[in-house]
Amino acid sequence: MTTYRPEKADELIQTARAMVAPGKGILAIDESNGTCNKRFEAVGIDPSEEKRRQYRELLLTIPDLETYVSGAILYDETIRQSTADGKSFIDVMRERGQVVGIKVDTGAKPLAGSDGEKVTEGLDGLRERIAEYYGMGARFAKWRAVITIGRDGRPTRGCIEANAHALARYAALCQEGGLVPIIEPEVLIDGDHDIDTCERVTEEELNEVFRQLYHQNVMLEGVILKTSMVISGKDAASRAGVEEVAERTVETLLRTVPAALGGVVFLSGGQGVEESTAHLNAMHQRHGDRLPWPLTFSYARAIQGPALGYWKGESANAEEAQKRAFKRAKFNGLASEGKYSADMESA
Ligand code: 13P
Repeated sequence: MTTYRPEKADELIQTARAMVAPGKGILAIDESNGTCNKRFEAVGIDPSEEKRRQYRELLLTIPDLETYVSGAILYDETIRQSTADGKSFIDVMRERGQVVGIKVDTGAKPLAGSDGEKVTEGLDGLRERIAEYYGMGARFAKWRAVITIGRDGRPTRGCIEANAHALARYAALCQEGGLVPIIEPEVLIDGDHDIDTCERVTEEELNEVFRQLYHQNVMLEGVILKTSMVISGKDAASRAGVEEVAERTVETLLRTVPAALGGVVFLSGGQGVEESTAHLNAMHQRHGDRLPWPLTFSYARAIQGPALGYWKGESANAEEAQKRAFKRAKFNGLASEGKYSADMESA
């Protein structure tokens, strides 16, 4: 424990444990309306509020999803929505024993004084928004910072420090209000950098994040880190294989993430669907006995991708779309215990 204990410390620790319970991970469906619309348009779905509601209903009502998914991160529009039968999404989740999460940042905006880097905003009025979400039934929150790797010296110290500071201020406010903060400093996969560069940037970023959390009196036992993996850039000339990504990621996390932390989850970040599962699985199969914290998934695209492409906004496709997303949730749940194998994909 830090010397500082938030008033709801015990509840926060229990919530964090439930989020990363053995064999389970977190479903991310917190795309802003703009991002959700872009993904809809890419597969020919009408980008309307009703279609977004239908899509989130499809995902949240997947039969038995709670076996592998402990909770979901919602967007402000979604947390206020209901099923076609009129049951609120919050009740759907709570009846399944799932923890309700909410994205509370207001997006990554241009960092003034920098050439194209971003800083995530949303601290103004956050205490009041947290109180509202807690009253509605949310028990955890998410804030995503974006770090870009570039040949021109990016990321800069200014970008790393500004984002880490905002993450820590957000985390402290969440814990004061009873929400477990998911802190998400995403090092983007975009670019042709090698895995060494990704490792160096991830290490610097995580060191700064935990330094800032310490200075803001954040209780680590009630925090979940959502991180990118240590991986080659998408356009790298040669990309590291599964075993190397698993080993480099685990070693970087062991060097930077305090053992007291409530848990670590991964974003998929544009990796392939099966690749995201294989990486998590390899970390557990090869390095499981070295991990001091629960280590699991919090994927959006790597779970939703196969479902969205199949659904296309048609109710006749909903059941099969649910099966496709369930398959990814199940395989990732198995991977979080090192029990997945690539042969399962074709079985
Ligand atoms: P992806 O798994 O699609 O990267 O999304 C995770 C997420 O929550 C991004 O903020």
